[in-house]
Amino acid sequence: MQLLLEKIKNESIVVSEQILRVDSFLNHIIDPEVMVEIGREFAQRFRGAQINKVLTVEASGIAVGLTTAMALDVPLLFAKKRKPTTLDQQCYQSHIYSFTKNESVDIFVAKEYLTASDRVLIVDDFLARGEALKGLANLVEQAGAHLVGVGIVIEKAFQGGGKLLRESGVRIESLIKVNSLEGGKLHFE
Ligand code: G4P
Ligand code: NA
Ligand code: NA
Repeated sequence: MQLLLEKIKNESIVVSEQILRVDSFLNHIIDPEVMVEIGREFAQRFRGAQINKVLTVEASGIAVGLTTAMALDVPLLFAKKRKPTTLDQQCYQSHIYSFTKNESVDIFVAKEYLTASDRVLIVDDFLARGEALKGLANLVEQAGAHLVGVGIVIEKAFQGGGKLLRESGVRIESLIKVNSLEGGKLHFE
């Protein structure tokens, strides 16, 4: 995780005690090499878990999801933040409230793409209070699929989402854990 660590140390910007900006390689410009490294790492950590589908939510999760799916040699499914209007597709729907953005969104996946025979790895760029993750896990549950685990690029451990979800028995692998952003600085675990 050499490259990812370097990028975070050199290019991330502490915006407040809650928010870390990583626009220069993850959230606005996407660095393909970093994404490939991330995908390989997730694949390695979950190898042998018989995952057959990677699941994320648009938009920022897609890049990470794609390289992970490539490394595992499985498809990537991304939840949409708008109900697909194409055809009258039957969808699973879940509600997410974002504390970070102070807004709610519904996320959707078509029922035909998530089924009871799936063994799913969820990936996302950030884990904060875990609302997005809970929404994605809820889609998996609705489909009767099996949630194998979760891969997160940057976990802000001080916001509690990871703790909550681990206590409920979900395996979460975070590549970078940040314990605080106090004093405008990154404090890694
Ligand atoms: P929350 O429950 O505390 O709101 O956090 P959640 O994990 O649900 O994240 C909400 C959105 O905010 C997500 O993006 C997430 O990636 C982003 N986010 C949370 N904390 C940070 C942070 O410290 N830095 C950055 N850069 N992003 C953060 P989203 O709504 O899914 O939007 P998109 O970017 O994927 O389109
Ligand atoms: Na995200
Ligand atoms: Na984001």
